[in-house]
Amino acid sequence: MDSTTIVILGATGNLAEVKLIPSLFHLDAANLLDDDLKIICSGRREFSQKQWTENIKQIVKQHSRDEWNDKIIKKFCSRITYFAGDYSNTATFADLKQLLESSFPPNHVFYLSVAPVHYVPIVKFLGNKGMLEESSHWRRVVIEKPFGHDLESATSLQMMLKRHLKESQTYRIDHYMGKAMVQNILVSRFANLMLEPLWNRNYIDHVQITRTEKLGVGTRSGFYEKTGALRDMLQSHLMQLMSLIAMEPPISMDADDLRDEKVKVLKSVRPIHPNAVHAQSFRAQYAEGVIDGVRVPGYLDEPNVEPESVTETYAALKLYVDNWRWHGVPFYLRTGKRMAEASTMVSICFKQPPKQFFRNLHIDRIPPNWLIMSMSPEESMRLEMTVKEPGLEMTTRQISLEAPFRCEDSNRADAYEGLLLDVIEGDRSLFLRIDEVEYAWRIVDPVLRHWATERDYISTHPAGEWEPLEVSRIFDKSEHHWRIGLEPEV
Ligand code: BG6
Repeated sequence: MDSTTIVILGATGNLAEVKLIPSLFHLDAANLLDDDLKIICSGRREFSQKQWTENIKQIVKQHSRDEWNDKIIKKFCSRITYFAGDYSNTATFADLKQLLESSFPPNHVFYLSVAPVHYVPIVKFLGNKGMLEESSHWRRVVIEKPFGHDLESATSLQMMLKRHLKESQTYRIDHYMGKAMVQNILVSRFANLMLEPLWNRNYIDHVQITRTEKLGVGTRSGFYEKTGALRDMLQSHLMQLMSLIAMEPPISMDADDLRDEKVKVLKSVRPIHPNAVHAQSFRAQYAEGVIDGVRVPGYLDEPNVEPESVTETYAALKLYVDNWRWHGVPFYLRTGKRMAEASTMVSICFKQPPKQFFRNLHIDRIPPNWLIMSMSPEESMRLEMTVKEPGLEMTTRQISLEAPFRCEDSNRADAYEGLLLDVIEGDRSLFLRIDEVEYAWRIVDPVLRHWATERDYISTHPAGEWEPLEVSRIFDKSEHHWRIGLEPEV
């Protein structure tokens, strides 16, 4: 590893507290950081070095998943320096530059853990101060999602960043790409031959990609009001999952080969015609309800939410990947906060056999085969099949062949850990290229535009319950319905 300083801009914010600092701590505890790696935590507020060290200790104790001891924490804290600064002021960056040049390792990662409005000013200041210049050592900038809020803004954001930042220095992060089970989609598909012959329109009826959460928007309503579920989850995380499920085998696992194939999927998605928005999308908002036995407020009663807000906390889309492999196969994507269950799953529904020999037996309709790739709460793969019931009668039942990848309580690295290591090592395969981001916006833009005109009504569902039944308008066939958890089909 090259001698590296990681500068976290926005280190007093939620992402740094919950993800970045604990992830760096876990990497350190596992001896995966070089001894000379240093971290500069930067925020607006003034902290003495002593106060900040105390803060780090609290964060680590609260968010660490592993056993920690004072020796490991001490070593971690010795890497960290606090630097206070206002990011709208050029003097902040002059001071930061001076600090970096004083005694810090010469390769620099700038992690923008700040609100998107700060991306351009920060990169501009870094550029103008020569802090992104790579003549002797590398400089990398990590940018969180959402990258823009629609196609136009993403393109103009990119134009502005490009003046100071080369694509090779830009790490657009989507933490889903760091999840082991998401990477497992690639491995399952391309390290085995078994799935490939079935992986197309001839055998697959439809695909469902869902991430449902029990959590509400909590303290993030300021961000969420302007974002909504479609931008927050669907345009980014779920679209990445769809690309991995639908892509062709890449020439190699090199960054650009992999991303070329993901882009082709997004490029192949049939544009949603303005007249088809209603038939291909559905949005809703959670109302007051009960989660795990506790009464929780509706979205409109969360702090800082406009009383008549129609920001969606639930979004579902039907997309068609119009290429040779997938033509005519609907991909249903959905995400929601405060739903009945928290889970992340890709569910592949296979077609029925051409002839139903067993139709006249004791069942009306034999359920189709499903392949379920579950990412949370369990990490597993499951194949559902119809078999004969033991006994003399010719009756059938469903069984599932299940392969746990890891169970809930086994030790798991957070997605951010691997991605932070990739940034330090300069591996961009799991980071998004600008064309991926732009094509993903192109897909959702017609829906965003349409929803922006419908300001006086949004469907609701009680917190702790599933979405309204009206969502079924997006299904192609009457037998299509959302898979709920890992319960087998009956
Ligand atoms: C983030 C969104 O990117 O992903 C959050 O901003 C969401 O709103 C989170 O809760 C979900 O991530 P995960 O890893 O829990 O599925």
